[in-house]
Amino acid sequence: MQKMDSGQKPLGLGVLGLGEGRSIISAAIASEIWQLVNICDLNEALCLERQQEFSLPRYTTRYEDLLADPAIEAIAIYTPDAYHAAHCIAALEAGKHVICTKPLFDTLAEAGAVLQAASASGRRLMVGQSSRFFGPMLLQRADFDAGKMGKIFSVEAHYHANHEWYFSKHKNLANYKPLFGGLSHPVDLVCWYLGAIEEVFGYATLSDRGAALGLKHPDAMHFVMKAKDGRLGRASGCYSTPPPNGERDSHVTCTLRGMTGSSQADYPDLRYSTNFPGEGEVIKSLEDQADYYFRFPERSHHAGEFQNYLDYFGRCLRSGDTAKPDLYEGLATMGVMAAMEESLATGQPVRVADVLDRHGITPDGRLK
Ligand SMILES: NC(=O)c1ccc[n+]([C@@H]2O[C@H](COP(=O)([O-])OP(=O)(O)OC[C@H]3O[C@@H](n4cnc5c(N)ncnc54)[C@H](O)[C@@H]3O)[C@@H](O)[C@H]2O)c1
Repeated sequence: MQKMDSGQKPLGLGVLGLGEGRSIISAAIASEIWQLVNICDLNEALCLERQQEFSLPRYTTRYEDLLADPAIEAIAIYTPDAYHAAHCIAALEAGKHVICTKPLFDTLAEAGAVLQAASASGRRLMVGQSSRFFGPMLLQRADFDAGKMGKIFSVEAHYHANHEWYFSKHKNLANYKPLFGGLSHPVDLVCWYLGAIEEVFGYATLSDRGAALGLKHPDAMHFVMKAKDGRLGRASGCYSTPPPNGERDSHVTCTLRGMTGSSQADYPDLRYSTNFPGEGEVIKSLEDQADYYFRFPERSHHAGEFQNYLDYFGRCLRSGDTAKPDLYEGLATMGVMAAMEESLATGQPVRVADVLDRHGITPDGRLK
């Protein structure tokens, strides 16, 4: 059925990759701004499962069909990390806007080619950094923007989860990098608040549990970051063991410490804690939003975040505003993760600008 939003024709969306793509399908169907046009996966059984789940009229196993479809204005990409760059380039060259799930890429090798494709097409790319769009994180950002914490000087974020279920189904596990696939959430949160990161340093290890599953890259890591103005960031991730109970330690958390107060936003717990002048310690529950954020059994996906960023991207496309994080901000954050990778290899602190420079990219994610 054709939707109309305030008299405007909805934007046509194609979805590539139907595992985590399930959430964006749900979001597009619920959106007044978007019309889901087609879905695509190489795995036809999965196409059929999604078609049945959402009562969709069609699917395709050929990405070319999405690229050639004039009704599709934007493609949302949920393929494995290592394919994101190629799939983004193909979409941009076909004249489509792009939502690329996190991590934007797992190496900077193809970043220049994506920048060139974006520049030639004039189309927009937004990184689907879902954590930014979770209820507690949105409240935290609003308080930050309102200056509730004063000037912040420390941002600490982590994403700890047991990804063994994901590792065991991954087709190319030896190439999978938890530093990008997992740590991209807390690194993005730190960068969102601190802006340009000058230098990073960290340690990581491949746990026995991860190695037994076939991982080759580290699955446990702790990094510190220094912003250009000297403020501090920290990002951690451990991915091959069950984390403690969420009441004590949420999988994702982001703590801001400022001159006049602090705040901590959690995921998947719908919980936001603050200590602001005149208010004291407050814990706010957003559990009443659980059905919005978690639409599938066992809280297995978090479609409400996808709803929030899909609709935000659509509103920005209509208004001409830039939806953040865009390609450039995403690449600056990629530079931080690439510098972390280099710090692990060298055992030294690494300057982010030097790593980006070697790939022909400026500190703000542009082609040099
Ligand atoms: N919080 C989040 O936003 C979030 C959560 C989970 C996963 N992700 C991201 O989503 C992406 C996919 O994760 P997943 O768990 O669904 O992985 P997955 O391996 O289960 O699914 C990827 C799908 O892409 C399909 N695919 C691969 N190449 C294709 C091609 N050329 N054409 C069509 N389909 C193709 C595969 O058949 C597979 O079904 C990853 O980048 C991951 O980091 C994001």
